[in-house]
Amino acid sequence: MPKRFSLDKLRGRTPLVWIWAAVIISLCILVSAVWMSPLATYIGGPQLPLPGPAQLAVAPPSPPPEEPQVQVPAKRSYLRVGSISTEGLGSTLHHFKHSIVLAAALDSSLIFSWDVIYDAKFEIDVYSTSRIWNGEESPIGNRAPSLNMDARKVCRISDHVRSEDRAALVRGICSGEDSASSQMEKIRLDMQDCTSIVDTEYSEHTQDMNGCIMGWLRDRLAPDSHFLPSTLSLPPNRPITVGVHIRWGDTRSDFKELAGTQLYGSMALPNVVRILKDIRDSPLGEHGVKLTVLMQLQDPEVLAILDETELNYTVVDSGDTVGDLYKLSNNDILLVGESSYGVLAHLIAPPGLTIVEMQAHLGKYTNTSGFGRNVVELDNYTPNDLLLAVGNSMSQLEEEQADLIP
Ligand SMILES: *[C@@H]1O[C@H](CO)[C@@H](O)[C@H](O)[C@H]1NC(C)=O
Ligand SMILES: *[C@@H]1O[C@H](CO)[C@@H](O)[C@H](O)[C@H]1NC(C)=O
Repeated sequence: MPKRFSLDKLRGRTPLVWIWAAVIISLCILVSAVWMSPLATYIGGPQLPLPGPAQLAVAPPSPPPEEPQVQVPAKRSYLRVGSISTEGLGSTLHHFKHSIVLAAALDSSLIFSWDVIYDAKFEIDVYSTSRIWNGEESPIGNRAPSLNMDARKVCRISDHVRSEDRAALVRGICSGEDSASSQMEKIRLDMQDCTSIVDTEYSEHTQDMNGCIMGWLRDRLAPDSHFLPSTLSLPPNRPITVGVHIRWGDTRSDFKELAGTQLYGSMALPNVVRILKDIRDSPLGEHGVKLTVLMQLQDPEVLAILDETELNYTVVDSGDTVGDLYKLSNNDILLVGESSYGVLAHLIAPPGLTIVEMQAHLGKYTNTSGFGRNVVELDNYTPNDLLLAVGNSMSQLEEEQADLIP
């Protein structure tokens, strides 16, 4: 006779079966509850064999130990990683303006990892961008950033700012938009424990926005003030100094046929001659004009155009990129075009005046009247503007002139 399962029989026979069943079911529930809980991770997760009740009792119910507190250094490093192609020093700046703004917003100090710029034509390494931008090759003294990285907690900026949002965020910060500031504040809080930050973006190409980064650039590249001439006074106490940049590329091709009038990155030479005459004849030229012309691979035929001014001049063409940049920039007046090297000279120049001839209107000089350095566009230039070479802003000058009128 087959044994048939009968509830009545079971109930009648032994209550012990029920007790056992209850114990086993409770155990199963307990084990699976622990298995699914965060405690499972702590006790080893699914790799462990099924823990018996004894093991469960041993596992402490306290939460996992906290991560050790990371002390973030006062000025953490923000490392801009990645190379760029063969370019002039001024043009390299187009590739990391976002990094400058983001590093500043994240209370960190921007440093660079790339090494040399290679000139394929002459098959030589021209200069080391990282050494220049890290302040190792300029007399900036204790303004040079530390090159040590605290790698206890390295964060990537790309985990917090998506590539496609980066430009809009940075532009928003530069123009003081509230939404950009609050977005940046959130990112700053999210990244507050990072002991260093790494930036691997290298597709940026920004021609303008130089007003926003001018402070950083002067801090990182401009020489200490004791390397600079004293600011010109009115009336002048010394010869006025003038720097002219003739971009190398501009003097190739059809430069001579056009008599130096159609230049891409420099001021057309007839305009340079005209303004030099204005300077010589203005009250500012009372003690003479000290003229410096920066022209790489100098060409006497090109320079001969300047003879018309009857001024003596010094040609700077040593091949030392930073040294030559300083000689160009350290002048009361700069006569330049839109070449990025000329822009760089203006951005780090002492108080004074830069007159710029714009051909392409790339916005490189937008908002760059600051730190006592004024900009006047050639199209708007009048000889009266030369007074801005004394290093006051336009409005200050107007006030002073008003004071002089009885
Ligand atoms: C110039 O400054 C203004 C005001 O701060 C800002 O709105 C604008 O975006 C800036 N332009 C550039 C090209 O930086
Ligand atoms: C240029 O230099 C020559 C020779 O040193 C000198 O005689 C002349 O006066 C100078 N011209 C000016 C404008 O300084």
